[in-house]
Amino acid sequence: MGNKICNILVIGGAAGIGKEIVLDFAQKGNKVAVADINKAAVDQLIRDHQLEPNVFSFEVDVSSWDSVKSMAKKVKETLGEIHVLVCSAGITKSLKLQDVEWSLWKKTMEINLHGLFYSIKSVAPYMMEQKRGSIIIIGSGSAITGSGGGVQYYASKGGAFGLMRSLVPELGQYGININVIAPRVIESQMLDVLYPTEQAKDELKKRIPIGRLGKPSDISSMVEYLSKEESNYIHGQILVLDGGRTYQGKKEIVVCNQHF
Ligand SMILES: NC(=O)c1ccc[n+]([C@@H]2O[C@H](COP(=O)([O-])OP(=O)(O)OC[C@H]3O[C@@H](n4cnc5c(N)ncnc54)[C@H](O)[C@@H]3O)[C@@H](O)[C@H]2O)c1
Repeated sequence: MGNKICNILVIGGAAGIGKEIVLDFAQKGNKVAVADINKAAVDQLIRDHQLEPNVFSFEVDVSSWDSVKSMAKKVKETLGEIHVLVCSAGITKSLKLQDVEWSLWKKTMEINLHGLFYSIKSVAPYMMEQKRGSIIIIGSGSAITGSGGGVQYYASKGGAFGLMRSLVPELGQYGININVIAPRVIESQMLDVLYPTEQAKDELKKRIPIGRLGKPSDISSMVEYLSKEESNYIHGQILVLDGGRTYQGKKEIVVCNQHF
């Protein structure tokens, strides 16, 4: 990796944070495989930004093991090696406990958590053969604070922390780093679902010490760093990117009931 060109697979790369990562890596000359349930949007992205010949489009439904396994095989055949895997596909909905139907709970788990397991399980063997790789999960600060989504979302994102931590020893032996980036309030379609009006967004900004919402580029810069050899000692970490919101003091929820 270093400053060398790398091959990256971005799952959930058609929109929002994933899309920014795709554009950033593509514009820096890396080979990028983009997999999403919305392949038409990936194809459009490639056309709009003239990303050929180094960006490749794949269809995947992360909630299906067969779909993920087959996509990973095709990506490996296309790229040769997969150096970086970014898992960004996800859904959210802000609801109270009694309003969360079983179907939504199940769907959220299938996409946000099972999808993560399938994605890592299907790509890790290729990275193990190479004895190198960086796996970056786009998690969420909400799993720490319990704010910003519904119970089904927090639970799925909390599961992502446990999944990542459980793989630290096993993947580390093969020279594969795994980390979670846990963003809070990044401008995207997903944020529009949770904060649909400008007024709601302005109120939100007041609660962020740095005084602005996060940008997808805040996340892609961290992904870029985690894809480089010099960040290789960062392994098994949850990196909260939040403009200082989580640790601003009494106004916010105390993390894990501990005082830091
Ligand atoms: N935007 C934020 O403020 C924020 C904050 C914290 C965490 N996150 C997390 O970051 C990740 C990306 O969020 P975003 O804001 O870019 O969301 P987004 O809705 O803009 O993009 C999500 C992408 O995932 C894809 N996707 C959805 N279901 C899929 C499936 N079954 N299979 C494959 N692809 C599927 C969508 O088509 C879309 O391209 C999510 O995991 C989200 O939970 C976002």
